[in-house]
Amino acid sequence: MTVSAQIGIIGGSGLYKMSALTNIQEVNIDTPFGKTSDALIYGELSGTSVLFLARHGRSHHLLPSEVPYRANIYAMKSLGVEYIISASAVGSLQEYARPLDIVLPDQFIDRTNGRTATFFGEGVVAHVAFAEPICKALLSVVASAAENIDLGRNKVHKGGIYLCMEGPAFSTKAESLLYRSWGAKVIGMTNLTEAKLAREAEIAYATIALVTDYDCWHDDHESVTVEMVVQNLQKNAANAQKVIQNAVAKIAANPPKSEAHHALKTSILTDLAQISD
Ligand code: ADE
Repeated sequence: MTVSAQIGIIGGSGLYKMSALTNIQEVNIDTPFGKTSDALIYGELSGTSVLFLARHGRSHHLLPSEVPYRANIYAMKSLGVEYIISASAVGSLQEYARPLDIVLPDQFIDRTNGRTATFFGEGVVAHVAFAEPICKALLSVVASAAENIDLGRNKVHKGGIYLCMEGPAFSTKAESLLYRSWGAKVIGMTNLTEAKLAREAEIAYATIALVTDYDCWHDDHESVTVEMVVQNLQKNAANAQKVIQNAVAKIAANPPKSEAHHALKTSILTDLAQISD
């Protein structure tokens, strides 16, 4: 049976499954861009169909630079996804965004290199608008979904700049201080590439950034280690799933109107009518 879902969920480090999914089915898809990071997991969250994908694979075998971003977004699009909620571990570049807080970024700075972050080229030229890289309507839904979660002394921060670095090594202190001076709020290794491809695929995209550490700029905190990231994510993964579950229910009840759904309307320069196959 071919499955389809309006909502896709991409989980990062520490979020390899959604515990509340029922009627689960694994979907393996081969795309023109190769295989996805892992099987997509079709299931229902409180009666709503969703597709879940572990960005780095369920055994976490893919580096940020190795994630098949194009295959992942292509597969979601081909199964009907119109909204993607992603979740990722991030370092905090600002004192007030503390480990175990949740940040809902609305901007990116690109410090990746060598990644293919477009479906275009090879004869078809398009330039999608990306001034607002996160879908505002979807971000509002996720923010209101997050408001209902009890995070104890931790907070949800709506908005902020996510600096996307290449990795896999963490930043140097000089880089971390530089990114702080640019006003970036959090640092991670994956979300910008996903957001760009989702926009080209006319999928609304928003991300839940789970703060695990203070990177390496903070004199009173140890520099980030994998152990720190994993420990804090384990503490926060349940909260992330609750936010996602709430957001899915809200989207299902009232699908937000997204400009991303028309991103290609005025973006393609090539005269496609003149291209014969
Ligand atoms: N993911 C979690 N913490 C991070 C950090 N400090 N830098 C980059 N990616 C991260």
